[in-house]
Amino acid sequence: MLTFALSKGRLADKILKMLKKLNLCDITIDEDDRRLIIESEDKKYRFFLAKPSDVPTFVDSGVADLGVVGKDTILEENRDIAEVLDLGFGKCRMCVCGKVGDNSYLNKTNVNIATKYPNIAKHYFESRHQNTNIIKLNGSVELGPITGLSDVIVDIVESGRTLKENGLEVKETIENLSARLIVNNASLKTKYDDIFNIIEGFRKIVEEK
Ligand code: PRP
Repeated sequence: MLTFALSKGRLADKILKMLKKLNLCDITIDEDDRRLIIESEDKKYRFFLAKPSDVPTFVDSGVADLGVVGKDTILEENRDIAEVLDLGFGKCRMCVCGKVGDNSYLNKTNVNIATKYPNIAKHYFESRHQNTNIIKLNGSVELGPITGLSDVIVDIVESGRTLKENGLEVKETIENLSARLIVNNASLKTKYDDIFNIIEGFRKIVEEK
């Protein structure tokens, strides 16, 4: 049996559609669904429905052989896993954002940054020799610069609407993001044939688009 850790939330619908196309599993999950583990009818595959930030933990530990998760989470969690395929959906950018026209953060030796991604923010600013004071927020990060809690934010930008509607703008793009297929390093060796077939199946779907 192969075990997958899947991200609940934003990416879930697209992941489930891909699994159906690959004939791995035909499941739908509605809002009322409380299942955390689902098995395919033929019992060949098991799927954990995890919080996105925990997917790399399940794959690194070997509890899951494979996982589907955003590149943002892979960068933030920095786990020892193999990233094997860009799945081409969930496209967005990790950016430094702040108030329109205010670039004063560039001249600060210690930048106040509100973010859900403390590791990415710290690493990015420190790589260019700017110290950071990281303020960890769990959502609505845009409130940081608006309220004066922080100079800037490091956050995901998809359509750009949240920024625009709150008087903020992108200052710098740190990285382009999308959903990725990840694999446990040991499973990649011990279950090579099965995992190779899965990767190739996903690759074909991605290339069809
Ligand atoms: C994310 C992100 C931005 C927003 C960007 O938040 O943190 O706030 O989406 O999307 P946009 O560019 O299309 O406006 P999410 O919706 O996950 O909610 P959260 O603020 O509660 O984390």
